[in-house]
Amino acid sequence: MLANRRNLVFRVSIVINIAVLLYAALHLSGSAGPGLEWVPVTSDGSDTVRSAEFRYISEQRREEARNETESRPPESSVRIFEESTSQKTPSTVASTNKTASSTASIVVPSESESTNEANLDIVDENALSEATLTRLRALLACNERDFLPQTAQRGEFWVLKNYVRADHGPVLCHESVTYTTHAGFEFLDNVLPLVERWMAPVSLAIYAPGADMAPTVNSIRYLRDCTDNELIREFVTFHVFFQHKHIPSKIPDPEVFLNTPYNCTEKPPYVVNSSTTYMKLKSLLYPVNVARNIARDAALTHYILPSDIELYPSPNLVPRFLNMIARNAKPLNTSTKPRVFPISIFEVDAKVKVPSTKTELQAMLKKQTAIPFHKFVCPNCHNIPQAAQWMSAKETTQMDVFHVGKRKGKYVIWEPIFIGTHRDPYYDERLSWEGKKDKMTQGYILCVKDYDFMILNNAFLIHKPGIKRFAKNAKRDAIVSRQNHFVKGVITPELKKLFGTRDGCAM
Ligand SMILES: *[C@@H]1O[C@H](CO)[C@@H](O)[C@H](O)[C@H]1NC(C)=O
Ligand SMILES: *[C@@H]1O[C@H](CO)[C@@H](O)[C@H](O)[C@H]1NC(C)=O
Ligand SMILES: *[C@@H]1O[C@H](CO)[C@@H](O)[C@H](O)[C@H]1NC(C)=O
Ligand SMILES: *[C@@H]1O[C@H](CO)[C@@H](O)[C@H](O)[C@H]1NC(C)=O
Ligand SMILES: *[C@@H]1O[C@H](CO)[C@@H](O)[C@H](O)[C@H]1NC(C)=O
Repeated sequence: MLANRRNLVFRVSIVINIAVLLYAALHLSGSAGPGLEWVPVTSDGSDTVRSAEFRYISEQRREEARNETESRPPESSVRIFEESTSQKTPSTVASTNKTASSTASIVVPSESESTNEANLDIVDENALSEATLTRLRALLACNERDFLPQTAQRGEFWVLKNYVRADHGPVLCHESVTYTTHAGFEFLDNVLPLVERWMAPVSLAIYAPGADMAPTVNSIRYLRDCTDNELIREFVTFHVFFQHKHIPSKIPDPEVFLNTPYNCTEKPPYVVNSSTTYMKLKSLLYPVNVARNIARDAALTHYILPSDIELYPSPNLVPRFLNMIARNAKPLNTSTKPRVFPISIFEVDAKVKVPSTKTELQAMLKKQTAIPFHKFVCPNCHNIPQAAQWMSAKETTQMDVFHVGKRKGKYVIWEPIFIGTHRDPYYDERLSWEGKKDKMTQGYILCVKDYDFMILNNAFLIHKPGIKRFAKNAKRDAIVSRQNHFVKGVITPELKKLFGTRDGCAM
């Protein structure tokens, strides 16, 4: 089966990586010399001050690694997941116990290897070769992040981080991209089609207040045990969260329930009338940005795609994207601005097959069985720079940046979905999904920080089939108006103080 082959490839890539680390450790211990120069990271999406800081940390790490490899046998240096030094705390880096991130950053290719793009000969855009991974490691200079279960507070919420973890085991920060997303349990029917197309780690935060906890746990069990597909176990990590005021009567222990197979003859627990959930019965608003931030914080990789669970990515997006990053061609190697990589979004008819390639998508656009996202609901919200050109441009053999746009002028209320990193601004946790425009405040910060929006050429997201029409909802309109007021009166002045202003940026 294809899926199994992919799993194998994924595992093999991890094994290869560890081998590379071991090899490099041995190699460095013998010949660490003046050839080992740090290569400036211009491709990093950070502003100059931060990337300088970042380079400094990396240099220090490498120094530590060098000292370490001289003083102990290489086997013991491959202990990758014991430490997660946050990038945000550079001052503690020097004093932390040297384990993971220091050893992990020792794969630093020689200068000629990492600056000469020509020698990266990518044969298969849908796979990551050893050379590509080595290049990524050097370019991204990222830190490994921990993958342990944790029960923690976040404002008025309790968060069960890594409540049920994917079976993929350690994932190095440079070798994949995590799809970070969120839902109530009644949306979990999307998990399978999503992971079948993504084939890489998924970090999923589930809002499960009160009595929604039990069906949430059953849904997780059902997805893992009953979908006849290994991908969910392999790739999806589940986090659960709820308000203190809505703590479930019982918090099942994953160590226990994962050891009992689920009774698969029962219907999927996520197939319910959505107006009967605890959340709806108690008229709770969906804390969409808390959910987004939880899912993102738990992602193990440098690059993340924070998205909505009903948006299914085009296949092979992860290897194609990482091959593009590794090639580091224009404009990646010339722009010095922070950056994100927006992905074009479309809706398709309820009855059609979701397109797998841009060519298929274009045929559907012609027949109007596919349309740009929210064309009938909020056309301007997804007014995208060069959208018409994107739709008419032919599919190419490799992923590239199609156009570099800004969130300004005509695009000032653009709420793009994009691949970014852990360094991008967070989502404002005071906003609800019902209040709409919940990504606007992040968009404003990106604009003020002068982010480049590097739109990807062949990649796209397709909303779960079924084209949305505008439907009036007076109750929701009231919430929207309240949230708009709050953004205008409270958040906007805050952001201006914190981040300043820039011509053309607005909310
Ligand atoms: C590495 O070792 C050298 C010499 O033993 C020392 O001067 C240097 O400070 C060490 N660096 C780190 C980061 O520990
Ligand atoms: C490093 O770890 C060891 C054992 O795990 C501990 O005894 C020591 O205090 C730690 N050192 C620092 C600087 O945290
Ligand atoms: C599973 O559920 C079905 C339907 O509810 C029931 O008939 C069957 O006995 C259950 N099987 C087990 C092993 O519990
Ligand atoms: C869902 O439940 C609500 C309230 O119990 C009911 O009014 C509605 O008709 C149900 N919808 C469906 C599709 O069954
Ligand atoms: C950027 O990459 C292009 C290849 O697309 C190459 O020709 C150019 O020399 C590179 N520029 C820099 C500054 O490295």
